[in-house]
Amino acid sequence: MAKPIVVVGSINLDLVAATKRIPTAGETVAGLSFQTFPGGKGANQAVAAARLDGLVRMIGKVGADAFGEELLHRLQESNVDTSAVEMVRGSSGVALITTDEKGQNAITVVPGANAKLTPADLDSNIDLVRSAGILLTQLEIPLETVEYLATIAAQQRIPLILDPAPARFLPPSLLKRVDWLTPNETETSLLLGHGPQNLSDHEVEEAAIALFQLGSQNVILKLGDRGCYVALSNEAPQWLPAYDVKAVDTTAAGDAFNGAFAVALMNGREPLESAAWASAVAAISVTRPGAQPSMPTPSEVDRFLEDSHCFKSTRV
Ligand code: ATP
Ligand code: RIB
Repeated sequence: MAKPIVVVGSINLDLVAATKRIPTAGETVAGLSFQTFPGGKGANQAVAAARLDGLVRMIGKVGADAFGEELLHRLQESNVDTSAVEMVRGSSGVALITTDEKGQNAITVVPGANAKLTPADLDSNIDLVRSAGILLTQLEIPLETVEYLATIAAQQRIPLILDPAPARFLPPSLLKRVDWLTPNETETSLLLGHGPQNLSDHEVEEAAIALFQLGSQNVILKLGDRGCYVALSNEAPQWLPAYDVKAVDTTAAGDAFNGAFAVALMNGREPLESAAWASAVAAISVTRPGAQPSMPTPSEVDRFLEDSHCFKSTRV
């Protein structure tokens, strides 16, 4: 039987205000519209993979509030197996998101039920974790749960993709157990002990080497409309430019990338080819509003690639 992609991560309701410009501290701006979408980095990656026909099972928690049932339903609608998603007392995770007219965003996440996903929950679902062909996780659940998952993954020799988002410093003991580390620019800077900063191409290349030195096996640096930098343990690193699309909402572009990357690896594709396909999936996602609703199907990806989209030349 085919092994599942198992996602251990967060499930949020996204409350999204569209504005012309994201306000600075102390400022009030008029919103253009308000919408709610199912989100959360874990759930987004699960939905991205399932929409692409991956066999996906999720371990997570929602609250017993007005949002919990709806969030579960939206996962199931996308063919994510939610038998290991528990409904617990208290509120569901929520994300307050402001987007601007360039498609950029600022996000505040209130973890709610996601904070209650403990290592004991991995023990309760140990057969599911061990059955995985690949494991995906992120940092919107307690770090100790991510660390325990990494320990199990290493013991069982199951590839682990860690999206180190939201940005924070991580112990080398965790990074050593990660097969695929996929930070964006801010996450890269914080992992390396710097404040958030814009990285030049040269600094990106140096950062990938530094992340290898901290222990991660393979590194994919996700750089928005500059594309990504793929540094594998056994091949020369390579830049993959982003597709030239009109971004409407970049929320969950990184999640689209990770979900698609996992599906491609599970389908036996080579890592570089998988990252290139994931870039197309992520590019489509930024042309659509919302997190989970923006994830494409395989036929939409085929059509996008047939339409011979150009690459952006935004490297710096
Ligand atoms: P998020 O936290 O919103 O999920 P992220 O910050 O982790 O996203 P990004 O680097 O923004 O990740 O995006 C991931 C990938 O999506 C990029 O490496 C790129 O391939 C693609 N992408 C992002 N923004 C754009 C864009 N404006 N145009 C084309 N492709 C994009
Ligand atoms: O990665 C995007 C996600 O981050 C959003 O869906 C939001 O829930 C936040 O967790």
